[in-house]
Amino acid sequence: MSLNAKRILLIIGGGIAAYKCLDLIRRLRERGAAVRVIMTAGAQEFITPLAAGALAADKVFTDLFSREDEHDVGHIRLARDCDAIVVAPATADLMAKMANGLAGDLAGAVLLASDRPVLVAPAMNPAMWAHPATRRNVETLKRDGVRFIGPEAGEMAERNEAGVGRMSEPLAIAEALSSILDGGEKPLSGKRAVVTSGPTHEPIDPVRYIANRSSGRQGHAIAAALAQLGADVTLISGPVTIPDPDGVATVHVETARAMMEAVEAALPADIAVMVAAVADWRTEADSRQKIKKQASEGPPALTLVENPDILKAVGHHRQRPALVVGFAAETENVIANAEAKLARKGADIIVANDVQPEKGVMGGLRNAVHIVTADGVEDWPESGKEEVAAQLARLFADRLASAEKG
Ligand code: CTP
Repeated sequence: MSLNAKRILLIIGGGIAAYKCLDLIRRLRERGAAVRVIMTAGAQEFITPLAAGALAADKVFTDLFSREDEHDVGHIRLARDCDAIVVAPATADLMAKMANGLAGDLAGAVLLASDRPVLVAPAMNPAMWAHPATRRNVETLKRDGVRFIGPEAGEMAERNEAGVGRMSEPLAIAEALSSILDGGEKPLSGKRAVVTSGPTHEPIDPVRYIANRSSGRQGHAIAAALAQLGADVTLISGPVTIPDPDGVATVHVETARAMMEAVEAALPADIAVMVAAVADWRTEADSRQKIKKQASEGPPALTLVENPDILKAVGHHRQRPALVVGFAAETENVIANAEAKLARKGADIIVANDVQPEKGVMGGLRNAVHIVTADGVEDWPESGKEEVAAQLARLFADRLASAEKG
């Protein structure tokens, strides 16, 4: 998507992710944007104004009370001479200041003086992101109309720390900004999509359940990407720890049967994308009481019965969506198994991925997929799940358009 002739004001905050902003500047300019940069004092501890200025091909602004800057541009003009503001990395401190309208430095003053769309890309330690104070500030900012991208889950700069707090990748930020600015292309406007995501939990008794390693990241990202293309999206999510995506109606379920019911309720739809790792089996008897070790004679036998196959049901439904997409997580014979699934489940596309443990993909942040259709197989390079989702959403929009043309 293009940012042609857009004027972007990038406010770089004081976090280690500031180094990624150098790449962000390039990505924005690549798309045709003019980038002007403000750096907080903290940001200058991590990267230099010289580096940011060289990439932006412009002077970098740092001081609220610089006579030179005020004479040159002034914070009010900085606030207004732009089409959008990006705050990256948005530290907990910067967001707290924004939420409270503090204007003690150039970044704060410009944000307070501006009426332009603001996109915030937070980055901080997971404990800081999870803290009630940060949660409050995020809610306040969202109510004020500020848009967010990320943070993502993953490794932190601190050794041996992982969790939600990584800044989104520059490409994803540039993409989100494009869609905010020109509304992006909306090839799916007026279309309905239903997406399943995450694992299902199948109870054994009130405290135990059968589950799998799905994180829901790929399915949630697809729901968000379809919404970005204008679709009216219902996301049916099994139990996950990631947040509901923006701009999507999310229904939370636990079991395969509840997921099936929620999918039925979301039909009719134009597109169905079944990403959930639905448990194939549940226990025949769902004990209402906790199974006690003492009372049983040896380990209890769990008798399993088959769960409804949601994808198959949708693929053969009387209200079958025009485009039905399934996923196939395989550990061997990836393509052959996916091709068999295409026919068996009545899908138009199977997105196959290799989940051999050594590839470490299931539950991970990246994905390498193969697109299997009646026309053949396309192998896509490995990329972040957001990027895969954006590309898939575009593919689905194209396929739906050609299906409708007949
Ligand atoms: N799926 C579903 N309902 C089920 C099982 C699977 O909707 N009860 C969907 C998944 O969301 C996915 C696709 O079917 O889109 C493939 O799931 P997978 O578990 O790989 O297929 P299975 O039919 O279970 O085949 P197998 O176990 O032989 O790989």
